[in-house]
Amino acid sequence: MKRVCLCALVSACFAFAGAEDLRRLPDVPGKDTVVRVCTSCHGPGNFTKKRLNRDDWDDQVADMVERGAKATPEELAAVVNYLSANFGPDAKVNVNDAPIDELKSVLVLSAIEAKAIVEYRQDHGRFKEWRDLLKVSGVDAKKIEAKAERMAF
Ligand code: HEC
Repeated sequence: MKRVCLCALVSACFAFAGAEDLRRLPDVPGKDTVVRVCTSCHGPGNFTKKRLNRDDWDDQVADMVERGAKATPEELAAVVNYLSANFGPDAKVNVNDAPIDELKSVLVLSAIEAKAIVEYRQDHGRFKEWRDLLKVSGVDAKKIEAKAERMAF
């Protein structure tokens, strides 16, 4: 029980990581709308860690409207466009600046492995290619190799 509470607390902190998270959102048309419509209740971490196709983004956004997100139909269309263009099934994750949640979910790592990657880059600087991630101790090399194509640097 105690463990569950701690996890909830940690993920809440990440969800509200704030300005840095907003800056990481790709600067293309639609960003302003997404920031306005989708970051009043939780941080962008909720959606930047997902990789969905257009239909699933459509459903996810409709679900948020049910939860209370306010937007015009045009704004919702812009949000779905933005999310499917930037967080579609093939979108990569930048291993040099992605937060733990995003590394964990896109590269299918444990929270401990994702945290080890973040700590390693803080201590050693940027990764240049996927093989650099093999130097991070405690991270399963097979998982890294399997997801090499999903990484951006
Ligand atoms: C009125 C408040 C509110 C707004 C505005 C809102 N959401 Fe949410 N969202 C929630 C709640 C509550 C949850 C469930 C708890 C959580 O994960 O924070 C949630 C969860 C999510 C999740 C699931 C996270 C997970 O861990 O699986 C995604 C994805 C998401 N929201 C995306 C969006 C997008 C995209 C928008 C903009 C269209 C948006 N949200 C706007 C309240 C909101």
